[in-house]
Amino acid sequence: MMSENRPHGYIQPLTVRQRVSRPQPKGLPVINLSFNELPYPPSQSVLTAIQSATSHANSYGNPTCELLRAAIGNAYQLDPDCIVCGNGSEELLDIIGRCFAGGGDEIVISEYGYILFPILANRVGAKLIKTNEPHYTTHIDNVLDAVTENTRIVFLANPNNPTGTMVSEAELRRLAQGLPSHTILVLDLAYSEFVSTSYIANVHSLASEFNNVVITQTFSKAFGLAGLRVGWCYAPDWMIPTLYAARGMGTVNAAAQAAAIAALDDRDAMLARVSTIVAEKQRVASALLSMGFEVIPSETNFLLVAPSADHREVADELAAHLFEHAGFLVNQTREAGLERFIRFSLSLPEHNTSLLESVRTFMESG
Ligand SMILES: Cc1ncc(COP(=O)(O)O)c(C=O)c1O
Repeated sequence: MMSENRPHGYIQPLTVRQRVSRPQPKGLPVINLSFNELPYPPSQSVLTAIQSATSHANSYGNPTCELLRAAIGNAYQLDPDCIVCGNGSEELLDIIGRCFAGGGDEIVISEYGYILFPILANRVGAKLIKTNEPHYTTHIDNVLDAVTENTRIVFLANPNNPTGTMVSEAELRRLAQGLPSHTILVLDLAYSEFVSTSYIANVHSLASEFNNVVITQTFSKAFGLAGLRVGWCYAPDWMIPTLYAARGMGTVNAAAQAAAIAALDDRDAMLARVSTIVAEKQRVASALLSMGFEVIPSETNFLLVAPSADHREVADELAAHLFEHAGFLVNQTREAGLERFIRFSLSLPEHNTSLLESVRTFMESG
């Protein structure tokens, strides 16, 4: 039973029936654009690393991910002792929530902040404070104004999911400077590779400067290893023993560690894929704008778009059309204020082109 002070109702649990995936009525292959994944399979060097690790699957992976932390430290010029790896960045966000907030504490997020943040607040029984977002973008003064002596954590995904928007590095600095020392600022950089390498480096230096700032990153998005579940955080050294104490011993398996090391070794391949996705995003965004869509400017590998400003049911109809006529699965967040939008990740150019064709058919039929 949920305790009294837990905020319920942020997500409507799906019934088992709703979770069963629907068959595509025409028998077409289903192209899932709803999880913000990369459309490319792992490169040959990553596949070789996975294969070699699985041939030693009788042994445990390294519990503290020693080689992986060294590789991350080397790639980003960070102290490996201040890095903790996890089973996706989701595990680390969960641990941070559980370690540093509890019943009655406050967690502050932006209005359309990543859905995991309300879920985490709910898990630990903390009070969730959502701050108003003009233009679907975090407003730093609104976040700062919401912080009280009871605020334990501010979670901010920058860029954010589902909006795709972000605030500038200067704004992040202003947020870090404005927070009291009893409040931890968690900067979730899951989509940062789609912004730029210098953005990542600047946020890392910001995190190094402040004793209450922790960043999380992932191999699930730009590195294309979502199914293997590898994420990491870079935290102030006082936090590290607490995070290890809360984390399971072997949550990052040996194959996942090997794959992430190989992926870091081939960062040029990652950057090339990122630039293709970013170019595709611009192409798809302009095509949708010319069809009259509202397109939220995105710094990620996905777009949040609305086919109609006034009628939210058009988004439902479009999502159904894309699935039934072309096999595309898109996301509908259904969060209050976002009901008229659909969100989809950019895919291979040929898939993006057929997505646009299917959208056009829908718009012309309406
Ligand atoms: C903003 C954001 N943070 C974190 C995650 C979790 O990623 P993972 O647990 O795969 O590292 C996601 C996944 O969609 C995300 O959108």
